[in-house]
Amino acid sequence: MYQKKRILLVVTGGIAAYKTPELVRRLRERSFDVRCILTKAAREFVTPLALSAVSNDKVYENLFDLDDESEMGHIQLSRSADLILVAPATADIMAKAANGLANDLASTTLLATDTPVMMAPAMNVRMWDHPATQQNVKTLIDRGVTMVGPLEGDMACGEYGMGRMTDVSELVEAVCAHFKPTGPLVGKKALVTSGPTHEPIDPVRYIANRSSGKQGHAIAAELAKLGAEVTLVTGPTRQPDPKGVRVVAIESARDMLAACEAALPCDIAVFAAAVADWRVDMEADQKLKKDGSGKIPDLQLTENPDILATISQHKSQRPGLVIGFAAETEHVIDHATQKRARKQCDWILANDVSPTTGTFGGDDNTIHLITPDHYEDWPKSSKIEVAQRLAAKIADHLKED
Ligand code: C5P
Repeated sequence: MYQKKRILLVVTGGIAAYKTPELVRRLRERSFDVRCILTKAAREFVTPLALSAVSNDKVYENLFDLDDESEMGHIQLSRSADLILVAPATADIMAKAANGLANDLASTTLLATDTPVMMAPAMNVRMWDHPATQQNVKTLIDRGVTMVGPLEGDMACGEYGMGRMTDVSELVEAVCAHFKPTGPLVGKKALVTSGPTHEPIDPVRYIANRSSGKQGHAIAAELAKLGAEVTLVTGPTRQPDPKGVRVVAIESARDMLAACEAALPCDIAVFAAAVADWRVDMEADQKLKKDGSGKIPDLQLTENPDILATISQHKSQRPGLVIGFAAETEHVIDHATQKRARKQCDWILANDVSPTTGTFGGDDNTIHLITPDHYEDWPKSSKIEVAQRLAAKIADHLKED
């Protein structure tokens, strides 16, 4: 499943706070998860109970509330969100945020975060026009905060001018626009495999390959950043799920093949998993026992499906661009060139994984890219840089098509 985007809504003390339960409801209708922080002043305009009911979550109010600290302190609160939306944003919270003040939960959260922040200012027209506020707004915009509004109109205080909070429906659209993918791979579907596979011997033992999943997960993340809709089929790894990627967790090669076939059709397929070539033919139902006689179990192996070859040679749904990896310990280029031809994929990224290179489990990789008509040596770089380079190359290639 795609992870739901999580909004941390910071409600500060302006009259427009009364609109925030409606805002929460509209955001949840668009499938966002919403968690709320309420300042002391905001409590005068909207109750925690109302926000808690519509967000279906606890409302966070107090920086020093021990309960909050043990459940979720301000640091985790800000990290638990994909976007922090401050609505309404008073002149006061903008002044605090612009100057790095942190004396309540809302301002501390804004100072402690590297999550994108969107603000919907709402205040009296004179407060908005004041050079101090304008300077703060400029500072915040320069730092990357997105300002939505304010609007011109009648104000609760009886005056007319700039200072009304943007309507709830427009705020919801601004939030949706923030998450709308952009980039050269928008509209493209990508499938990426990552990690090892586990091939069971009995209910407690398995055969596996050495693979951290770092390279495959990084590729999935970079393709998603360029706008692709990515399905990552992964064996067991310690890697966190990349942002904005649909993750399908599997264990065995056969499960990986089934999950890959279920992800077709797609435009791009990158097979970075270290799939076990063999599995135990007859998996034992019960744990194999050491009976003291010195008898050693006779494990018969059978070949696993070759996922890369199967998808590369798919009759009806072959992806437009199929990319494999070749982890080799000798004759790297020769073996990889033969592998590309044998498996019938389009590109192969060959890497030397002999123990002295530290590629397995390490952060760096040295890649040789082999295509049907050319060959490139990439400089030794981090697995993230390899992923960025590959994603950019894929985007370039698809642009030429
Ligand atoms: O044959 P070898 O395992 O060296 O091939 C490596 C490439 O093939 C990698 O891209 C790997 O993900 C893929 N592969 C596969 N299914 C297998 C074995 C390898 O998809 N059973």
